[in-house]
Amino acid sequence: MATPSRSGVFGVAPDRRVEQFTESISFDHRLYAQDIAGSIAHSRMLARVRILTDDEQSQIERALGEILADIESGRFETRVELEDIHMHIEQALINKLGDVGRKLHTGRSRNDQVSTDFRLWVRDAIDSIDDLLGKLQAAFVGRCEHDADVILPAYTHMQRAQPVLAPHYWLAYCEKFERDRERLRDCRRRVNTCTLGTAAVAGTSLPIDRADVASRLGFERVAANSLDASSDRDFALETCFSLSLIAEHLSTWAEEWILWSTAEFGFIQLPLDFCTGSSIMPQKINPDVLELIRGRTGRVIGHLMSLLVLVKGLPLAYNRDLQEDKPAVFDAVSVVQSCLDMAAAVVAGAKLNRKAIAASLERGYLDATTLMEYLIQRRIPQRTAHHLVGQLVRHAMQRGVPLADLSLDEMREACPELDEGVYGVLGAARAVEAFVSYGSTAPAEVALRVADWRSRLGMHGDACPTPN
Ligand code: ARG
Repeated sequence: MATPSRSGVFGVAPDRRVEQFTESISFDHRLYAQDIAGSIAHSRMLARVRILTDDEQSQIERALGEILADIESGRFETRVELEDIHMHIEQALINKLGDVGRKLHTGRSRNDQVSTDFRLWVRDAIDSIDDLLGKLQAAFVGRCEHDADVILPAYTHMQRAQPVLAPHYWLAYCEKFERDRERLRDCRRRVNTCTLGTAAVAGTSLPIDRADVASRLGFERVAANSLDASSDRDFALETCFSLSLIAEHLSTWAEEWILWSTAEFGFIQLPLDFCTGSSIMPQKINPDVLELIRGRTGRVIGHLMSLLVLVKGLPLAYNRDLQEDKPAVFDAVSVVQSCLDMAAAVVAGAKLNRKAIAASLERGYLDATTLMEYLIQRRIPQRTAHHLVGQLVRHAMQRGVPLADLSLDEMREACPELDEGVYGVLGAARAVEAFVSYGSTAPAEVALRVADWRSRLGMHGDACPTPN
């Protein structure tokens, strides 16, 4: 039997190897539901403009419903000769309906069909990723109440810098993931453009109604140029970029918690049911889940790179190269989905080692900047205060004590303006209390932010039950 895409022009069968080489059914079978939805919308429109009779349309719609059921129950067979999911479904329709089935592919081509199906798929993927991002944010926010009084060192250059509340850390990730959600929402608007009916490249001479199809499929707009529409893969690229940035954010978090879970830091205990062991060292409890989250970032970014190179220099309009976009996006989506799912579970199940953290706050002079600001409030110029506190830190280092352990005489030697009040800002806890600026780790600020996130994420009632 001739394959549907090989018209009477050939008079010769394709080389045996060509079908295997050019097929896409092995991956684009994932578009079956979108393809059927697109075909039903297309057929309803064709009936509305009287290209199909109502009877033909209802036969087509019923048969497409049966094909959907066959696919979902595993009764549908695929063959490389039929190349892709679009031709498999069309051929199944023709097998059921004969000539009526042969009418479905009127006023469209696979070029716009592929694009439309893929857009529908990406639209759903974006919604699922948005949902997973929300769940991860909720896991971070869910920790905030429980960890409200924990102070952690914040680092710059990986050197101890200033003390912050643990919830300030958790909400830092919420902000990053919120930007990811915004980016996806923005990208979704462009994904949500209907290309069906732009046909092969120039449109069609048949009186189709593209706006009708678009609204049946929930698209927000109709692509305005057939040359652009059938060649456009921007939506896939920007989705993949958004996924790459999510992966980057996850990777930063994973790296941080891997470090924090080491004996050297000892800040956090990862949930044991999300850790792995060693086949030779019996004592090992390894953070493989976090390492794979970090590692798979490479895969997602790799897919973005392959898409960028794929479309580079393609002339208008459809070129078969574009078939290669799907494995990249499918894999990027499933990697990010599984990483987000794992991350939410690890975030919810980890325990902070409060004792080890508290002991570590003694080191690193986390309160030095607050001391400098205390001097600034006593009208000492910043540069002078910076220098004076540096001298005090050096003195304290030589004695091997924290700043709070220096006597007032020692303090005054460096800075005669000081009085007892200085002890009110020394030590990590007091230093944290001293913050006041918007966006800082000031406890009142952080409490407001936590409340704000809880309401934005629809988290009512008790904070999530948290460990330790
Ligand atoms: N399987 C192809 C794809 O996914 C279908 C494209 C058909 N268009 C064409 N002109 N051969 O891109």
